[in-house]
Amino acid sequence: MPHATELAHRILRPAIAPGAWVVDATVGNGHDTQFLAACVGPTGRVFGFDVQAHALAATADRVQGLSQVTLIHAGHEELHARLPAEAKGRLAAVMFNLGYLPGASKDVTTKTETTLAALSQALELLGVGGIVTMVLYPGHPSGREEAAALRDAAHRLPTSFAASITERLNAVSAAPQLLIIERLR
Ligand SMILES: C[S@@+](CC[C@H](N)C(=O)[O-])C[C@H]1O[C@@H](n2cnc3c(N)ncnc32)[C@H](O)[C@@H]1O
Repeated sequence: MPHATELAHRILRPAIAPGAWVVDATVGNGHDTQFLAACVGPTGRVFGFDVQAHALAATADRVQGLSQVTLIHAGHEELHARLPAEAKGRLAAVMFNLGYLPGASKDVTTKTETTLAALSQALELLGVGGIVTMVLYPGHPSGREEAAALRDAAHRLPTSFAASITERLNAVSAAPQLLIIERLR
């Protein structure tokens, strides 16, 4: 697991109470979905989004029997449209792990425009104290453009949010970065 992904888990674990509602905005192979399901427990809800049916199938296998998980075959830019109305202002966490699914086609990757749309919806859906984490991959050209646009958007957020970015400095090659945005009030 890349360091940024592990770091996201360490930040979110104490911030998600049993019974919380959360979103995995890029389900992939389901590692984050499984992590979130353990955090919220059987009384919580995890909504997982992915555009690839085989990613959702792999994740369904991984979380078999966990009734708190709902998998949604749609892009995260449809967060508002696909989540129940009660989710607004209630989410404790929204996780994104951008880029493409390791081992699958690199053509299916997150895109700047839809990621920006999803981020703005995620921020509207967060409860106070809720956190968005985004693992960014500036090591390849489209990931670099996406990371720069997100950093720019984070700079412009109102002070009711706290946005930070971490980057591993002693990595061998361009390391993933972790963008963390908390709703303060
Ligand atoms: C880096 S992978 C996610 C890894 C995953 N979190 C895990 O633990 O295995 C990125 C995923 O984002 C998905 N994706 C691409 N565009 C998307 C979109 N607009 N909405 C939701 N998921 C998308 C890809 O299909 C891919 O599965």
